[in-house]
Amino acid sequence: MSPRKIQSQGEIIVRPVLPTDAAAIYAIAANPQVVRFTDHLPGLEYTEIEDWLSEPKDGQYRFAGEIDGSTVGLAWLECRIRPRISHIGDLNLMVHPGHWRQGIGTSLSQAVLDLADNWLNLKRLQAEVLVGNEAALGLLEKLGFEAEGIHSQSLFVDGRFQDEVHLSRLRGLDDVNHDETAKTMIDIDPQSGSPSTQLQDIKVEPAQVHIRPLDPDDSADLYDIFRHRQVCRTTLQLPSQESSANLKRMRDLPSGLHRFAAVTQDRVVGTISLKQHHIPRRAHMGRLGMAVHPDSWGKGIGSRLMEAALDLADNWLDLKRIELDVNTDNPAGIRLYKKCDFAVEGVKRFHTYGDGRWVDSYFMARIR
Ligand SMILES: CC(C)(COP(=O)(O)OP(=O)(O)OC[C@H]1O[C@@H](n2cnc3c(N)ncnc32)[C@H](O)[C@@H]1OP(=O)(O)O)[C@@H](O)C(=O)NCCC(=O)NCCS
Repeated sequence: MSPRKIQSQGEIIVRPVLPTDAAAIYAIAANPQVVRFTDHLPGLEYTEIEDWLSEPKDGQYRFAGEIDGSTVGLAWLECRIRPRISHIGDLNLMVHPGHWRQGIGTSLSQAVLDLADNWLNLKRLQAEVLVGNEAALGLLEKLGFEAEGIHSQSLFVDGRFQDEVHLSRLRGLDDVNHDETAKTMIDIDPQSGSPSTQLQDIKVEPAQVHIRPLDPDDSADLYDIFRHRQVCRTTLQLPSQESSANLKRMRDLPSGLHRFAAVTQDRVVGTISLKQHHIPRRAHMGRLGMAVHPDSWGKGIGSRLMEAALDLADNWLDLKRIELDVNTDNPAGIRLYKKCDFAVEGVKRFHTYGDGRWVDSYFMARIR
C-alpha cells in the first residue's frame, strides 16, 4: 500500500544546480534510503559531489528542487553523445526522504521533460529503476514511461544482486519509418522469452582463425570492417567515419576495456570488446560489442571471438552478468548470442537510427 500523500507546505522551485548546492546534494545522495535505490556507494565522499557539480559532462543537464529555500531534490538528464542514438536521454532523480511525496520529484521530472521535449527534441527518454522501488515506478508511469523489460541481477544492493526495470517514454515518432516487418522475423517466443529465429542453419566452414589481443597495427583492417555499410547498419558506426578517428579509438584503452582480434591469413577479419562496468556496484557486469567483416560472415569467426571474450569474463574476471544490445533485424547476431546462452530481457523501442530506418534493439544478457 502506498503511504499517505503529505501536502507540501511551501512553493517548489526548480532551477539549474549551483556550486553552493554541494552540502544539500551530499545530504540527499548519502542518505541510506537514497543510496539503496541508486547506484552509488554508502561511502560517498563530499568531494565527489563537489567535483560532480563543478565538472558537468557533455550532454548532462542538472536541476535542483527547492522548497522553502532549501535544496531537497536533484534531477539530471544525460544525453547520448553518439550521433545515431543522440535522440536518447537518461533521466535520474533523487529527493531527500524527509521530503518524499510532496511533489518535488514530479516538479523536477517535469523540468527535465520540458528540456528534453521542447529544447533538445529528444525522442526517447530512459530510466532504470530497482524492482520494488514503487515510488519511482509510480512517478515514471504517471509521466508516461512504459516498462520495456527487466535487467536481471544488474545491481548489487545491500549484499544481494537485484533486478532493475528498464523504462522508456517515446515522443514524436508516430509517423516515422519504423520497420515492423523486420521485427516479425524474430518474434520473441512468449514461453521462453527467447527470440525464435526462423533462419536456415548457417553452414559454418572451418576457418583458420587465430584470436589474439588487438594491436595498434590492426587499425587499417579494423577501419575496413567498421566503415562497411552492413557493419554500420548493425552497430553504432557511421559510413562517414574517418581513419584518424578509428586510429584514435584503437589507441585509447579506457580501464576495464578488453579487446580481441580474429586473424585469418594475416588480416584482421573480426573484433570483440568486453567492457567491465566502472561503477563498483555494477562491477560484476561486462558489456559486449563485436563485428566481423561481411566477407567472413557465416564461417564461425563470431563464435570464436565470443569464446575468447566469455573465457576472459568467466575464468579471469569472474563476471556474473554479460549484456549487449542487438538490433531486432539482425538475425545472425541474435542467433549467435542465443547459442552462447544469452536471453532476451526486453526490447528498446526506436533504439537506433541508421541506413534510413529506425530500429528496435533487444537487450540480452547471460547470467552465470
Ligand atoms: C522516486 C522519488 C524521486 C520520488 O520523489 P517524490 O518527491 O517523493 O515524488 P512526488 O511527491 O512528486 O510523487 C510523484 C508520484 O510518485 C509516486 N509515488 C511517490 N511515492 C510513492 C510511494 N511511496 N508509493 C507509490 N507511489 C509513490 C506517485 O505516483 C506520486 O504521484 P501522486 O502523489 O500523484 O500519487 C523519491 O522517492 C526518491 O528520491 N527515491 C530514491 C531515489 C530514486 O528512487 N530515484 C529514482 C531513480 S529513476
